Amino acid sequence: MLNEKEYNQKLAEARHYLGERLNTMPELGIILGSGLGGFAQLIESKVVIPYREIPHFPVSTVVGHAGQLVFGQVQGKRVVAMQGRFHYYEGYNMGEVTFPVRVMQVLGATGLIVTNAAGGINPSYRPGDLVLIKDHINFIGDNPLRGENLSSLGPRFPDLSEGYDLEWRQKALHMAREIGVHPQEGIYAAMSGPSYETPAEIRHLRAIGADLVGMSTVPEVIVANHGGMRVLGISCVTNMAAGILPQKLSHAEVMETAERIEKQFVRFVQTIVGVI
Ligand code: HPA
Repeated sequence: MLNEKEYNQKLAEARHYLGERLNTMPELGIILGSGLGGFAQLIESKVVIPYREIPHFPVSTVVGHAGQLVFGQVQGKRVVAMQGRFHYYEGYNMGEVTFPVRVMQVLGATGLIVTNAAGGINPSYRPGDLVLIKDHINFIGDNPLRGENLSSLGPRFPDLSEGYDLEWRQKALHMAREIGVHPQEGIYAAMSGPSYETPAEIRHLRAIGADLVGMSTVPEVIVANHGGMRVLGISCVTNMAAGILPQKLSHAEVMETAERIEKQFVRFVQTIVGVI
């Protein structure tokens, strides 16, 4: 649970550390989910800083997540990309899960692109589809803003009625057409994990309007909105959710699909960065 003074102190130390190593501050944060790690290679004039070197930064436990911030330029924009994110299921508290987004905010970033791998609930989706998130449902059972409000960073009761910026979504859809990508749009339900959902849970999520399910993104998006950042969220459907198809789910399938789509996903995000 948040303690304002303590959290602000940690943020100030992280910001100070990074500020001493950077010539320019980022305007846009990008969280690279499964399948988008390769995006970091596109970043020019890179400054790479491993999480373990940044004061108070959690350290990633998931195999295949690099665990570093990559600062630099993409399409003329000053960006900071997170290679490796922190999931609630790993045991971090919400303050830790969202610490990097706060660091982005205090470095001056005013926008955030969040990406992830997700299970498809909407039966018109196929593994490999890219989906622009238009709204979310938080089933994690916790909220990163719980506790004292970080009043210098945002309001006690932030509005989430446009948690995913409409203008950015429209721009992303427009650019998608130009480069021959055909994204879906959908509502993302966040579960705590790490077990995948049961078929009954997926039927429930479908009944209440969810199109996608995953174990990340929502905490970061809540915090970004609290901090007044504009948000764009993109999911890669790596598998159909439990019970949608008569087959079992596996992490291997998730990783395989993420890898298959990576090139297209990277290109899409690169294009979007240039226009938002
Ligand atoms: N459920 C939850 N998280 C996921 C899934 C899923 O089916 N696929 C990828 N991340």
